[in-house]
Parts: sequence; C-alpha cells; structure tokens
Amino acid sequence: MNTSALDRDCMDALRRQIEHHNYQYYVLDEPEIPDAEYDRLMRELQALEARHPDRITPESPTQRVGGEPMQGFEEVAHRVPMLSLENAFSAAELTAFDRRIRDRLGVEQITYAAEPKLDGLAVSLRYENGLLVLGATRGDGARGEDVTQGVRTIPSIPLRLIGEGFPAVLEVRGEVYMTRSGFEALNAQARQRGGKSFANPRNAAAGSLRQLDPKVTASRPLSMFVYGFGEVEGEIADTLSESMQRIARWGLRVSPELQTVEGADACLAYYRRIEQRRDRFDYDIDGVVFKVDRLAQQRLLGHVSRAPRWAVAQKFPAQEQMTRLLDIDVQVGRTGALTPVARLEPVNLAGVTVTNATLHNEDEICRKDIRIGDRVIVRRAGDVIPQIVSVVMNRRPRNARGFKMPSRCPVC
Ligand code: IVH
Repeated sequence: MNTSALDRDCMDALRRQIEHHNYQYYVLDEPEIPDAEYDRLMRELQALEARHPDRITPESPTQRVGGEPMQGFEEVAHRVPMLSLENAFSAAELTAFDRRIRDRLGVEQITYAAEPKLDGLAVSLRYENGLLVLGATRGDGARGEDVTQGVRTIPSIPLRLIGEGFPAVLEVRGEVYMTRSGFEALNAQARQRGGKSFANPRNAAAGSLRQLDPKVTASRPLSMFVYGFGEVEGEIADTLSESMQRIARWGLRVSPELQTVEGADACLAYYRRIEQRRDRFDYDIDGVVFKVDRLAQQRLLGHVSRAPRWAVAQKFPAQEQMTRLLDIDVQVGRTGALTPVARLEPVNLAGVTVTNATLHNEDEICRKDIRIGDRVIVRRAGDVIPQIVSVVMNRRPRNARGFKMPSRCPVC
C-alpha cells in the first residue's frame, strides 16, 4: 500500500475512534480515555487532514465548527409537523387522560413511556444514510428555521450515526438545552465583562442556537436529549421505548430517566419520584411527559389540532413567579465585599417560600433597571440562590425608586 492509501485508512480509523470516544463522553457520560489522549487523536487527524485537504468530509469530527457566519436563517418545512403537548396540572387530570385513552382503545391498561419534560427548545434532526443533513427549530410546528450549522457544533449530536441497521431516512426530535452549571458560568462571565446576562437556561439555549456565527454556538454549553421521531423510513420497533433504545445505540442521546410504567397510578408515582429529584438534575425540567408506548396504539389515537391524543405533559409547580421588590439591603461579606440583596414580598416557588434574592452587584441592578417597588419575576432553580430575572415594566408604580450602593460600609 502506498503512503497515501495508508493515510486514508488511518484517517478513517481515527474518525471512528474519535466518534466512539465522543459518544462515550458526551452521550453516555462514561469516558474511556483521558482528555489528553482524546486531544492527541484529534490533533493526529487534523495533521493528516492538513496533508490531504481533498479528503476532508463534512462529517469528520474536525468539521463541527465549519463555515462562515450566515446572513440569516433559511425556512424549512417539516415533513411531519412538530406538535405540542396537552397539559395536565393535577392527578385528576392525568387520571382523566388515561381513562379517555383506555375508552378509545377499549383496553384495560396502557403502558406509557415516561420521561422528564425538558425546558429547552424543540429541535428536529434529519439523518440520511446515517449522516446529519438538517437541524431545524420547531417554529410554528409546520415550518421552522434551518439551524444545521449550530446543531453541528453540539458535541452530543452525532454528525454520523454509529453502528448499523438505521433507516435510510431518520428524523428525530428532541430538546436542546443548556446545563444549569454551564448557564451559571456563562452568566458570571457575561457579568464580569459587563455584558448582557440571560434570564434562564432556556433563553440562553435558544439565544445560543440562533446565532449566525457557528463559532459562538460552539462556545456555549449546549446539549440535547432526543425524545421522539419525525419522518422515518420503515419501522424501528413496535414500541416507543424500544425505538429509543435502538436509536441510543446509534449514538443519539436519550434520557437515562426514560422508563415504561403501567397505568395512571404508576404514572403518578413516576411524577413524584422525578419531582423529588428535580433539583439534582443539571438541567431544568418543567414536568414529566407520558406517551402511549405501543406505536400501533399511537396511530389509532392520532391527534387533535396541534397535539397528539397519545401524550400528556404533567407540569410541576412553576420555578418563576411574579412578586414585589420591597427593598434592597446591603450585605457585608466576610472579606468586606458589599452585596445588594433583594427583599421580596414572600412568594411560593416550587414549594419553597422565597423572601430574598441575590442581586450580585450594582451593575446588575442598573442593567436590569431594577427599582424598589417594582413587580419583578423571580426564579429559583436547583440549589441556586433565587434570582431576579426581570422587571415587569408595564406594572412599574409611579413611586418606584432607584437604588444607590452606599459608598461607606453600612456596618462599620
Ligand atoms: S414528546 C408530539 N417529550 O414540550 C409532541 N416533548 O410543550 C411529542 N418537550 O414541543 C413531544 N421534553 O418540545 C416530549 N420528554 C419530552 C419533552 C417534550 C420537552 C417539549 C417538546 C414540545 C413541548 C410541548
């Protein structure tokens, strides 16, 4: 074999190795090699590709952040519409949902695929012959925006499926989100630079994906869980849960919380289990989703206007609420640093009464134009200290007053 053919084989082997380690790290969260070793493989591939630029393929792991900034987003029509979900806000509403389904199908008990409802943005990924060819936002459900350049930079989204047996056309749907820890770090960075911070991880994820420059998207801590299907050539399996297991083996990231449960009582128990652990996840969820597991039953049920009859979202109590900013106190830290703290009219946030929120510093108060007396949106997620997300400007009272940091320590 000549050197050129050797290099070609080597490049192919390296790409498969890197794809495998990418999958272990970003999808399974089970890295097999140290980061330095991964970097070495990547550099080796880059060096070979530099020698043979004609052999660089778009799905090569070196090509995630490709292309120049775009002028705008193209519109794409979804071949299978991206629907929304019916909500259930109580146990009674969930039981009623289950009864309706059993009555329609004339069966005693239904198996549901249950998983957390992610608070991110819905995205459709299209694979043709195993290659990622399109990423699109939900838009109005019928037409969305082409965000292929952006989704290609998300490390948990494979550019090429691994393994075999996948359909020639495979469209999967899921939620792109930003981790809470990534969101906190991003906002801390923005604050330090005096830039604009994001209100919550969902806005941050949406803002990051809808960037015309893929380099910016690549720098943001985005991830994705796949929860369903769009257009698929042929059947993958008889049930949703088995189909999800199969696509997970092709490299797509599926929620580790996905479970099948039998009947409404088991659904409610699942809901309580997830709610109890809600704060421990490194991503925001706003409820759980129950989906009829048998695909034949899903087809029989069909959908009404914009939501399938075979699925329901059972929502958690909200993590954001409106309340009034009563005052701003100044706290003196151990090191003598002064931090403004918001005193709030008590408000219940996902089961916890919140009376204070951090305001970080004077800059933050200025940037958000927060005044004492304002109606504000407060948010509490995870173990994070409650934050003021924004001011409800159209409800600002006439006597709302600005705040000035004291120039002297209020204690000494
Ligand atoms: S299943 C036909 N599963 O919630 C729609 N949706 O409020 C089937 N969502 O647009 C959707 N997590 O973007 C499903 N585990 C999950 C989800 C989920 C978040 C979103 C989805 C949908 C929205 C409806």
